[in-house]
Amino acid sequence: MAKDVITKDMTVAEAVKVNPDIMDILAKENIDFCCGGKHPLKEAVEAKGKDIDSFVAMLNQVEPVKESTRADAFKMSKAELVDYIIRHFHRPQLEQLDQIEMGLAKLLNVHYEHHHKELFDVYKRFMSIKADLVPHFAQEEQDDFPRFLNGEAVDFSELVAEHEAVGEKLEALHEVTNNYQVPADGCNTYHYIFKLMGEFERSLHEHIFYENSILFLMK
Ligand SMILES: [Fe+2]
Ligand SMILES: [Fe+2]
Repeated sequence: MAKDVITKDMTVAEAVKVNPDIMDILAKENIDFCCGGKHPLKEAVEAKGKDIDSFVAMLNQVEPVKESTRADAFKMSKAELVDYIIRHFHRPQLEQLDQIEMGLAKLLNVHYEHHHKELFDVYKRFMSIKADLVPHFAQEEQDDFPRFLNGEAVDFSELVAEHEAVGEKLEALHEVTNNYQVPADGCNTYHYIFKLMGEFERSLHEHIFYENSILFLMK
């Protein structure tokens, strides 16, 4: 069977469905594949000032990771995918949210003298993201997902709008921290917590992609 190829007239989400392992490249280039998955790939790539033909050629060079759980997730049943999202994203992300909150609270005190202004801002922005996500995950797990698995026609528009709102807040956090850059006098905790925030952002994008572009479109 011929290998599927990514073409420039696909949407971002369609390209990811050809090879989910391009998500790492899209994340690195800051190309939105979760809430912005519906957008044409060409537009998203050109908005970053890149040439679409060479970018698509480069994407087609990406070897799918062997035994990629990402690719397996595309073949899952509804129930398997819900279970995967909860175990692979909800549980670890809730833990990361707690861990980052505690780390940032510690940094506020340790680096108060030189960095309290920016750290106050980061802390408040992060806590607003956490305040959105904790009830969002609970609603999915307790209400929307069980009804969907029960065969009910679920209107996902509220969840999709929440994804977009939280995506915008994360984008703003990414920008004010200059992609989670640590000041020169930042301690190890500073480095660790900012690295965690960057990882959290990437895994949340992946999480939202599985919901918006796969799960919510299932019959
Ligand atoms: Fe979720
Ligand atoms: Fe969600």
